[in-house]
Amino acid sequence: MKFDYAEKSANVKADALLVPVYEGKGLNAYKYGAQLAALYHKADFEGKAGTQLLLHKSDAVAADRVHLIGLGKSDKSGPQQLGEAIAGFFRSGAVNTSKLSHVAIALEAAKGKDEEIGRWCAEGALLGDYHFDVLFSKADKKKHHAKTVTLAGGKAGKLKQGVAYGEVTAQYTAHCRDLVNEPSNRINPATLAKFAQDMAKAVPGLKCKILHKPEIEKLKMGAFLGVNAGSDIPAHLIVLEWHGGKKSDAPIAYVGKGLCFDSGGYDIKPAAGMLGMKMDMGGGAATICALGAIGKLKLKVNAIGIVPATENLINGAAYHPGSVLTSMSGQTIEIGNTDAEGRLILCDALTYAQREFKPRVIVDMATLTGAQVVALGNKVTGLMSNDDKVANGLEKAFKAVGEEVWRLPLPDFYDKQLDSTIADMQNIGGNPGTVTAALFLQRFIDKGQKWAHLDIAGPCMNDSDGWRLWSSKSATGTPVRPLVEFAENY
Ligand code: BES
Ligand code: MN
Ligand code: ZN
Repeated sequence: MKFDYAEKSANVKADALLVPVYEGKGLNAYKYGAQLAALYHKADFEGKAGTQLLLHKSDAVAADRVHLIGLGKSDKSGPQQLGEAIAGFFRSGAVNTSKLSHVAIALEAAKGKDEEIGRWCAEGALLGDYHFDVLFSKADKKKHHAKTVTLAGGKAGKLKQGVAYGEVTAQYTAHCRDLVNEPSNRINPATLAKFAQDMAKAVPGLKCKILHKPEIEKLKMGAFLGVNAGSDIPAHLIVLEWHGGKKSDAPIAYVGKGLCFDSGGYDIKPAAGMLGMKMDMGGGAATICALGAIGKLKLKVNAIGIVPATENLINGAAYHPGSVLTSMSGQTIEIGNTDAEGRLILCDALTYAQREFKPRVIVDMATLTGAQVVALGNKVTGLMSNDDKVANGLEKAFKAVGEEVWRLPLPDFYDKQLDSTIADMQNIGGNPGTVTAALFLQRFIDKGQKWAHLDIAGPCMNDSDGWRLWSSKSATGTPVRPLVEFAENY
């Protein structure tokens, strides 16, 4: 998809012109508004957010057809709502069924800074148009994609800057979606590492290092290796580095769970629970792709991405319920449940991040607990942190990109539920499961180290209809955009 610019929306000879409409405001903002308004009854389209109406061949505009897209109430509608309305159009199937190759967007009535408008137009169009169709063998199953999007009626210069930014965030979010949507026989610890390396090669200045099993053994990452023991594919530790800031500045470290398939291990998951578990590397995919976007945007920050990648499978060497593992930190862990594996691979990655990089803040993200889905559903990420400023920064970052997060507490009185009678701790801590998982991770955070944890078990994969910029029944790519935003502003 390519973006270009035009002065007047009425003159663009596109297959379709999107005309954004504020709720109850009609089409007065457009020169051709009265002519279009005569084509439908007011009650047919009020401009409510999420609605659209197709109008065929009006002489008022050069485009073949017009799609009115609702923005909702004008006092609550800015670039974000415009982007979401655009995403809704691209997701609706109109591009595919009508084989629209050239779509124009009328920006005469758009409110907000042109740079923001450009960014949200690009993100809305690209992410709304996202489909994971690479695995269909037949051409007719592949979706038709729009090739050109013309932004018409705005200031081209500023719009262009915003589009350039939005193209990057959207493309890396789409990469993240691809990685999560890909089945686990195609994306495994080795191919995930290969993706990170190839991605880094395409971004000047972005470094990628893969630590293989012998090096992971040398680092004594016994918790990570314990999970990996049951898999024929050796563990990979993916390390990405972006140095866009001052040499002396401590970096932000992102750490993502790269569990390429979670069978549960000997505490095996029931079939229905196992089916979706290719997505258990969603936090890792987001970490990799956020670093890609940060590098591509040349953000003036230092940022690190660390992804422990393995599968959680069963064989004669797999760890057992009751096994005791020694983590890189030296702390010993009794395995209360082999399905609580995410925290085991993360705890060693957190130790590595602190020892190797002395980060000014660590944010880890993981599809960590089913309890997160129970508590917050699939649209709201769980946030836990030992620092209010970090938590506020993340809340701001999510809000800025139109995603949702909710902070949960980390009270120390739940921490003792992690105690074990034979080791320093066990890997399960009872209810509330999302919080005790985070409290487990916190045991690996050094004194004074700022840290936040994002549980994306629900939001990683959207199994219902599309929403905001998310696609339907497919990976969402969260939290790539919040992570880029946080890196830029924290
Ligand atoms: N990957 C799962 C969590 C998960 C569940 C993600 C559903 C997405 C959707 C994780 O490894 C897991 O199995 N967690 C267990 C922990 C329990 C054994 C303490 C869970 O939440 O049931
Ligand atoms: Mn598990
Ligand atoms: Zn898991």
